[in-house]
Amino acid sequence: MHEQDRAASPAALSSPYGDLAFLLDLDPPASDFRHDVHEGLAATPKRLSPMYLYDERGSLFFQKITTLETYYPTRTERSLFEDNARAIGEAIGPGRAVFEYGAGSPEKIELLLSLMQDPRGYVGMDISREFLIEGMQAFAARTGLPVGAVCADFNDIATLPKDLIDPEAAWLGFFPGSTIGNISTDAAGALLRNAAATLGRGAAFLLGVDLEKDPDVLRLAYDEPAGVTAEFILNILPRIRDELGASLDIGAFKYEIDIRDNPQRIEMYVTAVDATEIRLDGRAYGFDAGERMQISRSQKYSLEGLDSLLDSTPWRRERTWIDEACPYALCLLGNG
Ligand code: TRP
Repeated sequence: MHEQDRAASPAALSSPYGDLAFLLDLDPPASDFRHDVHEGLAATPKRLSPMYLYDERGSLFFQKITTLETYYPTRTERSLFEDNARAIGEAIGPGRAVFEYGAGSPEKIELLLSLMQDPRGYVGMDISREFLIEGMQAFAARTGLPVGAVCADFNDIATLPKDLIDPEAAWLGFFPGSTIGNISTDAAGALLRNAAATLGRGAAFLLGVDLEKDPDVLRLAYDEPAGVTAEFILNILPRIRDELGASLDIGAFKYEIDIRDNPQRIEMYVTAVDATEIRLDGRAYGFDAGERMQISRSQKYSLEGLDSLLDSTPWRRERTWIDEACPYALCLLGNG
């Protein structure tokens, strides 16, 4: 089915939905873990989608990563918000409603809403339906703002029922945490073009982007001695074993990163220490010693690189707040 067909289906919209102004369920295609593991293990080089990192355990590991002294992105972004609260609020302007891509962190959206002037409402989008609905309902109950939920993936083009939040409000897209670096540049361009269509005329977009920096800082953030990031990535192995019934030797693998240049990015791997194999459904996938399976990537942008990405979209960078000590940017984009 095409995205447009899904978005147009009237059955997709429930309004109201409990404490929510609406639930728009675009019914993102269910992922097929077993199929994707077979495909990724059969591929050369081996690979697996990062979305399988975020089961309950994985989400807890990631949560823990964000509190580590060595993991700079979360606290750097938070400081940018805190140190520039007034300026950011003024630049966004009064009377906007927020649409967030990936409704992961109530702290971030609360920080944003607290610096906005006269916020009109909040709509969170996420692929994980239960998690989304629970989070949005709790948020609605806490704030009393009109809150909506969109169950969709980053590729969907949502037709937002904006009147159910506030017919007068202009919109602000919100994509924090440098999650834009976890998708390919092509996918990032598509997301931003879709966002322009979803949010409409006069919209703004607040984007958190991690910038290129000293590779030693990256290494410490993404492969820290505490080993939490390693646990986060290697958590994929017990998932493959326990949920799919694969046989594999967890101890035969280790976590590894590569830091590449131009553009700068970190690639995260599960690496076989010695030759080993993963057996699944009667098939055996062999690993040579040192062979790797890529699980994730985190691209770091330069401002020039970001602007050339934006050139393929209706958005232009209007205001930018930068942490110079630990290069990270909060960018306010406009499409007018
Ligand atoms: N957006 C975060 C980042 O790039 C989240 C992330 C994705 C991550 N994959 C990761 C963090 C692997 C640590 C390890 O930093």
